[in-house]
Order: sequence, then C-alpha cells, then structure tokens
Amino acid sequence: MLRSIMYFIIGCCILNRICGFTCPVGNNGLHSNINDHHSFWQCSNGIAYLFHCPNMLSYAIAPPPTVENNDDGICSNATWNPIGITKAGSNKRGTGLNELDFPSSFVFGADSSMYIADTFNHRIVKWLLNGSNSQSIIAGAKGIGNQTDQLRYVHRVILDEENTMYICDSGNSRVLRWFKNENYGHPILENFRCWGMLLDNDGSLYVVNSSDNSLVLKWPEGKIVAGGNGRGNAFNQLRYPDNILIDRENSIYIADVDNHRIVKWVAGAKEGVVIAGGNGVGKCLHQLQQPMGVALDSMENLYVADHGNHRIVRWLKGSKSGDVLIGKSGPGDAPDQLRMPTDLKFDRNGHLWVSDYSNHRIQMFTIDKSACSSTTY
Ligand SMILES: *[C@@H]1O[C@H](CO)[C@@H](O)[C@H](O)[C@H]1NC(C)=O
Ligand SMILES: *[C@@H]1O[C@H](CO)[C@@H](O)[C@H](O)[C@H]1NC(C)=O
Ligand SMILES: *[C@@H]1O[C@H](CO)[C@@H](O)[C@H](O)[C@H]1NC(C)=O
Ligand SMILES: *[C@@H]1O[C@H](CO)[C@@H](O)[C@H](O)[C@H]1NC(C)=O
Repeated sequence: MLRSIMYFIIGCCILNRICGFTCPVGNNGLHSNINDHHSFWQCSNGIAYLFHCPNMLSYAIAPPPTVENNDDGICSNATWNPIGITKAGSNKRGTGLNELDFPSSFVFGADSSMYIADTFNHRIVKWLLNGSNSQSIIAGAKGIGNQTDQLRYVHRVILDEENTMYICDSGNSRVLRWFKNENYGHPILENFRCWGMLLDNDGSLYVVNSSDNSLVLKWPEGKIVAGGNGRGNAFNQLRYPDNILIDRENSIYIADVDNHRIVKWVAGAKEGVVIAGGNGVGKCLHQLQQPMGVALDSMENLYVADHGNHRIVRWLKGSKSGDVLIGKSGPGDAPDQLRMPTDLKFDRNGHLWVSDYSNHRIQMFTIDKSACSSTTY
C-alpha cells in the first residue's frame, strides 16, 4: 500500500515558505485535534494544510478503494431496465434505521456495502448489500449538531481504501475526516460550503466550495483546479457546483447546477468546456435542469442525474443532446419514476444506482449488455 502514501511535511504556509517543520512538534500555531494521529493541520487564508509524520504512515491519504467504472462492460448499445428495484429506504421518509430522509448521495464500500448520506437524518448509514440487508449508523448517531461527533444536513460521503470517510457536513460548513472505528470526525476544512468531493487514484482530495466564489480545491495543497472566479456563467466560472468526477487524464467533470450544464476542466486549464446542457434551463433533450449527479463509463459517455427534470440522461461522448434512460414518464414514486434524483453510480457489473432524493430511496436499474458483445470488435 506504499504507493498510496502522501506526505505534506511542510512548514509555515504563508507565501508557501518552508520553514523546517519537524516531527513531533508542540507548536501552538498548529491545531491539535488530530494530534492523536501524529498529524497536524493549520489554516492559512481559509485553506487547511495537513502535516503527516513519517512514523504514522497509515494516516496518510489513501486512494479510493477501486478504480471506478474500470471494468463495467458498458457499451454504447447497452440498455438499462427502466423499472428500478429499491435497494435502500422506501417511498416514505422516516427516522428508522431502515428508513431514509432525503438521501443526497452514496458510495460503495469495498465490503459489499453502501454508505449513504442521509441528509435530513443528519447521519451516514452503512447499508449491507450482501443479502443481510442490515444497517448501522456510522456517523452522526447523536443527532443534529455542530460537535465533531454530529452532522447537520450532511450532503456527501466518500471513502478511501482504508475506509476513512470524507464527509461534506454542509450544514456546518465543514469537511470532516472520519477514521474507521472512531466515533467522531476531524474537521479538515471549515467555513467551506462543501458539496462535491472525490479522491483521485494518487490519493489527492478534490473538494467543491459551492460558495460565492464557487470553486474546486485540491486539498491539502490548497490549489484551485476549477472556478474561483466568482459565481457566474462564464466559462471560467461556476454557479452552485455539486458533484465532481475525474477521468484518467485528470480532467474534472463538474455538475454546474445553476448553470444547467456539465463542464469539463482539463488539468491545468483556465476555463471549462461545456459537455452537456448549457442551453438554458428546460427539459428538451439538449437541455438540463439543475443537474446534480455525474457518472462516466469507460468509454467516457456521460450519465447525468437531471435533478429538476426527474430523470437520468446519457450523453454519448461528443454528442449535442442526451437520451433519457430512466424517468421517461415524468416525476413520481412508481418503480420507473424518480423524484429529484441527486446522485448516480455504476456498480462493477454496470448496474445503475440512483439516489432518488425526494422519494427517500436508493434505486438500482439493471443493465442489459446483450447488444454489446457483437459491437466490440
Ligand atoms: C449498436 O448495435 C448496432 C446493431 O447491432 C450496430 O450497427 C452499431 O454499430 C452499434 N453501435 C455501437 C455504438 O456500438
Ligand atoms: C453480510 O455481511 C455481514 C458483515 O460482514 C455478515 O455479518 C453477514 O453474515 C453477511 N450476511 C450474509 C447473508 O452474507
Ligand atoms: C454550536 O451549537 C451550539 C448549540 O446549538 C451553539 O450555541 C454554538 O454557537 C454553535 N457553535 C458554532 C461554532 O456554530
Ligand atoms: C469557501 O466558501 C466560504 C463561503 O461559504 C468562503 O468564506 C471561504 O473563503 C471559501 N474557502 C475557500 C478555500 O475557497
């Protein structure tokens, strides 16, 4: 697992000067609440810098558990059964362990599980998918609040390969790092309107600040990799960005919600390129309405949780419009309907999972690859 280890043994963050930081330190200038891991963090101009000490390798940032969509077998001719199967929650909001209250996102765990950001229950629920269908609250069991063991309108959770969670605790305007088997989180970014988040394969964290100065920040370096030019609809701006994705070339795909478009920022670019929507708000096939979830298959076709249109659309790579995969009959809670979907992901088999936000459930749509094999060669 050595490849995953990243060090940030740097000193004073001011003007990026390095000032001979050594471990261990008893420096009052550093926040100490993760000293128990021999890691320290410091804020400078609102950006947190993380310091790792070499004798505690296991607390460095690890990459995500699997390379997403690497082997999903999805081809352009694949279809999905438009009738979904409920995998978590039901059509009714609730506070029970097997109920959800506006689940805004989810992520698959390595152990055949799903971690759900159960937004209005202010908790992260781990849902086993191995047939036992049992649940446990792994963060936020104490209810809404601003202590380190509490969450407020939690929006997103992602996992690294050591099962450390990174949580957008949006109502508290902070990002928490929550180590496996601990019952509280460590704030790594504060005063930060976190909506989207990802870990790349090198173990760098990318976080969306959906603030007045909407941007994507690479953490802990503090480098702005998209936006950062004020909230707006120019190509170098974003307006309430939400979910983000990264591809093999390190381009970042962003659900630019209030611009009703998906944009792609090539690594190092000063502005983004619109790859879906961007044609005003609406429900025509060349339009989107507050798109929130994005997914890519291995052929770089784009899949969008078109929140305001209650549908999942696919934009084949390079195309100027999408096709509706799920939700053709409009909003509702029937098995073939969605209400304000917010997130979507493929599992290893290419089945499509959707966070059906206002129906308080996670739906799965099975893939049919039978039209794929003949077209591969
Ligand atoms: C889809 O299948 C059709 C008929 O089998 C084939 O002609 C076409 O090339 C395929 N398209 C793609 C993109 O694979
Ligand atoms: C599912 O996984 C859990 C935890 O690993 C285990 O306790 C349980 O027995 C499993 N259930 C089934 C049906 O495999
Ligand atoms: C945390 O919550 C308590 C109780 O609601 C409140 O008094 C306090 O001001 C909050 N602290 C912050 C930093 O928001
Ligand atoms: C994040 O957004 C908040 C406003 O919500 C702003 O005050 C803060 O400076 C931003 N931080 C960064 C690092 O962009």
